[in-house]
Amino acid sequence: MKIAVRYYTRSGNTKKLAEAIADAVGAEALDVSVPLTEKADVLFLGSAVYAAGIDPAVKDFMKANGDQIGKIVNFSTAALLSSTYQQVKKCAEEYGISMAEEEFHCRGSFSLLHKGRPNEQDLAQAADFAKKYLAS
Ligand SMILES: Cc1cc2nc3c(=O)[nH]c(=O)nc-3n(C[C@H](O)[C@H](O)[C@H](O)COP(=O)(O)O)c2cc1C
Repeated sequence: MKIAVRYYTRSGNTKKLAEAIADAVGAEALDVSVPLTEKADVLFLGSAVYAAGIDPAVKDFMKANGDQIGKIVNFSTAALLSSTYQQVKKCAEEYGISMAEEEFHCRGSFSLLHKGRPNEQDLAQAADFAKKYLAS
């Protein structure tokens, strides 16, 4: 099974999750500016919330690489919102990409909020989530 990890980040929070997940599943964590060069049966796709939305770069990546994606597994960080799942799912549906129901989300630091998040515990939980997802 081919596994890929892509993320979009502005301040590094989602990149930390991406690297923890990539380490756990034996893949490389790459930015969404790097296209998929072969089909990924499972794509762990990381995003964050900015002004209640996800960055257009995530949508552009999904549009450009949709035919190379078997299934998206969403992971995300945000200061307040509980996930980017619904926004990524809406986009996945638009481009005909399958999306897992399981996801991983945790707080991400923003200004004075949630200093140090994601922390070591978040990263361990993200790694655990990814391993369990693939084993299921
Ligand atoms: C410009 C900007 C707007 C944001 N807007 C929201 C928001 O509307 N809701 C929310 O929950 N978090 C919001 N956040 C917090 C980010 O989602 C949070 O810091 C996230 O972990 C950033 O991930 P990143 O470091 O991977 O970019 C915002 C952050 C920035 C920089």
